[in-house]
Amino acid sequence: MVGEIRLYVEKNFQEQAQYYAVLLTSRGVNTFIEVVEKLNARFFRLNPKLALCVDAEGLWLCANGMRMQPDWKAEVGRLKRASIKSEMIARACNLSEKPELVDATAGLGHDSLLMAQLGANVTLIERHPILFTLLEDAKKAAEADLFLAKIVTRIHLVFSDSAKYLKQQADEQKFTDVIYLDPMFPQRDQNHQAEKKQAQVKKQMQLLHLLLPEDGEMDLGDELLDLAKTIAKRVIVKRPRHAVFLANQQPDHQWLGDACRFDAYFSHEICM
Ligand SMILES: C[S@@+](CC[C@H](N)C(=O)[O-])C[C@H]1O[C@@H](n2cnc3c(N)ncnc32)[C@H](O)[C@@H]1O
Repeated sequence: MVGEIRLYVEKNFQEQAQYYAVLLTSRGVNTFIEVVEKLNARFFRLNPKLALCVDAEGLWLCANGMRMQPDWKAEVGRLKRASIKSEMIARACNLSEKPELVDATAGLGHDSLLMAQLGANVTLIERHPILFTLLEDAKKAAEADLFLAKIVTRIHLVFSDSAKYLKQQADEQKFTDVIYLDPMFPQRDQNHQAEKKQAQVKKQMQLLHLLLPEDGEMDLGDELLDLAKTIAKRVIVKRPRHAVFLANQQPDHQWLGDACRFDAYFSHEICM
């Protein structure tokens, strides 16, 4: 799926780089390890192409002078402030009921982390081997954090294409309370409000868009909606505020925010 990608590492971390290289190969990504003298800001500026790097903090995605990994510890402040009342996502996903929830487009896992903090039991599905590996690391790091450890007991990671996963769940008649979808949306079509996002989120999204290119091949996730509706009582789709509906399907209900909105699709036939 991804092919080959360069993996930069300083001399002292070659063993860790080997570990990631083997893991990524088993997931369909060949890495070309390059030992470098110093992984610093200058190095990243001089090597702007999309690549991976490994240091004391594990695996990173890097490009255009930036590097990024899902930083769940940086979310702690927001998680501590969050409540069912204050978070639109909580009302949309009915988190007060402590649902079983499948996040079929995991990405960096930030939305799921918030939903797990607010009581959901979340299964995150991610199909991209590099993102999935970064997510696994983020979960491991969270398990060692005093505040996050309890939250991540409610987080389960699955490396799969969600279309395949959801079809299999449907075949086995395994139903769930909520399916959450936040598929990629072309960056050029995002409205200007989205650009006001904090710098860190913007940086992460830029790198995500480089990893999942938009040129003609971006999968907009339309196929996931009908599949999700066959196994969940409630399907919630996150969209930029002015974006078209997923799969052109009019939702049953909407929650509108400044930059994004949540579209809800309810299935009344599903009894669990
Ligand atoms: C916009 S990001 C999701 C961001 C996420 N909500 C967060 O809080 O970080 C979309 C992610 O969904 C993943 N994705 C899209 N279609 C998928 C599919 N069919 N199966 C699994 N993952 C998928 C992409 O690889 C990407 O990582």
